[in-house]
Amino acid sequence: MKYNFDRMYDRSNTNSVKWDNVKAVFGSDDVIPMWIADMDFPVARPIVEALKKRAEHEFYGYTQAGPSATEAVVDRMQRKFKWSIQPEWVVFTPGVIPGLHAAVRALARPGDEIILQPPVYYPFFPAVTSSGCHIVNNELKLVDGCYKMDYAGLEGLFQPRAGMHPSANRIKAIVLSNPHNPIGRLWTKEELSRMGEIVISHGAKVISDEIHCELLFNGYTHIPFASISPEFEQNCVVCMAPSKTFNLAGLTASSIIIPNERLRDDFLNARTGIQPEPNVFGLTALEAAYRFGDEWLEQLLSYLQGNLDFVTEYFEKNIPKIKVIKPQGTYLVWLDCRELGMDSMALRSFMRGKARVGFDDGFVFGAGGAGFQRMNIACPRAILEEALSRIEAAVGSQ
Ligand SMILES: Cc1ncc(COP(=O)(O)O)c(C=O)c1O
Repeated sequence: MKYNFDRMYDRSNTNSVKWDNVKAVFGSDDVIPMWIADMDFPVARPIVEALKKRAEHEFYGYTQAGPSATEAVVDRMQRKFKWSIQPEWVVFTPGVIPGLHAAVRALARPGDEIILQPPVYYPFFPAVTSSGCHIVNNELKLVDGCYKMDYAGLEGLFQPRAGMHPSANRIKAIVLSNPHNPIGRLWTKEELSRMGEIVISHGAKVISDEIHCELLFNGYTHIPFASISPEFEQNCVVCMAPSKTFNLAGLTASSIIIPNERLRDDFLNARTGIQPEPNVFGLTALEAAYRFGDEWLEQLLSYLQGNLDFVTEYFEKNIPKIKVIKPQGTYLVWLDCRELGMDSMALRSFMRGKARVGFDDGFVFGAGGAGFQRMNIACPRAILEEALSRIEAAVGSQ
């Protein structure tokens, strides 16, 4: 079946966070929303068919993930990443972010510290602080247009700080984003190994959010952190979901893969009474996506590559003051707008008010984000064309 990703749809009045809040978020209805990470494309037909069939069953009672949902996750990890996992390692949550909150609660007590590597997906911040833990930053470094992890900085965080007894280090974990939102890096095996060795050698764990793992541009492959070694596998919590890849965020079904039994028990305890299982439609969609969504996904990735090439070329040719940090994965493009010479609030009002495009402001992603904007390119090309021409006109009249 051939999917038409150029087709435009009206998503208004569908309880859409992106399309039903434009004025509330950006101050005017005449702004193109290109911020929150969902796609302006309908989902794969097998998912729709599976949901219809399930809806026709007419019973929507209390739900649990059965063996067939678990098997769909186990098969997917094997088929896509050659990562062999055991069914009992898989825990279902109603979203990756709820999973992250539970993982932090499982690993740390109030007052403990969790490392983040900003600029990073901003819901990571409350995932740490809502349980009374503190964030310690190991900021990514932008070197010649490519982001790198700061290993010396990471090692340094584990060293005794002034006035602190060496045994008093309270770092319990790092939250890894891979592919990294918002900068689009896919961390290599060497990078993951170096980072993992530092963290684990100091007794801390890795919470690896891999939600964008199947959204890859040409030539890139994803390596699940836990697949690198048995030691890594035993010291991490891996967050997976079909929601970004197959555009199912509103159905809230994710799998958190925790090979270490004790860690898994702690995780299950941390979420008891707070988080339900995913809902019946979420689980139905997860299975259908993982089992029957590949034809759609292949076409989607080719369309997204076309969008990325179009955006990159457009900025290079027509708006050279804004530099594209070329993503290796995700459908989010990190734009370096520092040459426009504006502070964060001026850049925000320039994009929203003058260019009338609704991006995420870079500064909300934490340290290193000021002067950048994050643009979601998962939309029909005609929307991209309109957005880029608006920016070009706004920059031209600056
Ligand atoms: C890195 C990352 N993690 C988690 C999420 C959200 O996960 P969920 O909707 O499953 O809570 C997103 C959404 O954009 C994301 O980019």
